Amino acid sequence: MTRVRWARDGDAKGVQPLFEASMVSEGLPMNLAAFRRTWRHAFGPKSTFRFVVAVDASRAVVGCCTVHTHYSTYRGQPVVEVEDVYVVEPRRGRGIGAKLLGFCEKYAESIKAARTELHVRQGNRAARLYLRQGYEPVDYEWMQKPLRTLMAASGSGGRAGRGVRHRNKERA
Ligand SMILES: CC(C)(COP(=O)(O)OP(=O)(O)OC[C@H]1O[C@@H](n2cnc3c(N)ncnc32)[C@H](O)[C@@H]1OP(=O)(O)O)[C@@H](O)C(=O)NCCC(=O)NCCS
Repeated sequence: MTRVRWARDGDAKGVQPLFEASMVSEGLPMNLAAFRRTWRHAFGPKSTFRFVVAVDASRAVVGCCTVHTHYSTYRGQPVVEVEDVYVVEPRRGRGIGAKLLGFCEKYAESIKAARTELHVRQGNRAARLYLRQGYEPVDYEWMQKPLRTLMAASGSGGRAGRGVRHRNKERA
């Protein structure tokens, strides 16, 4: 039985391999320094996002995602964005992804958010799950501007100076 819950600070070791695998699946260089910063930030006092984990009966982390709270000035309500959805390969296709989304949607309702939203690369099979879950495509261009403060990826697989090029493929 898989249980979905908010991540605790002590889950870092369980989530890190999923983060690494997610980077690889996105074609991004491994960036463990970024993961450490992200984790510290998630549990810091000014955090605007939280990790959610799916844990199995042996308490191993088998899935995760992040929940970011924004605001719709048009609706006058919060908006919850779900990112970094990942389930370990051997456990896919058993509803864990849907469970993670359901958890985030319940949270969004609890804070009276107008909607939940997410980004998915064209051609990613995950879009089938999102459509089934009730997500609808939005006709907007998604644009980004990498800033000079962008830090280059470091750690195994990463090469200094390649950060900006890869950033073009990143989610946010
Ligand atoms: C997307 C993902 C989180 C879904 O988790 P899951 O537990 O398998 O999801 P569920 O069992 O609830 O739903 C199954 C659906 O997941 C998606 N899925 C399954 N395997 C997948 C894979 N290797 N890559 C992308 N999506 C996949 C499909 O939409 C599938 O539905 P389908 O069988 O009709 O095609 C998981 O497959 C995954 O981690 N994929 C790799 C990372 C990724 O692409 N994340 C999404 C980024 S936007």
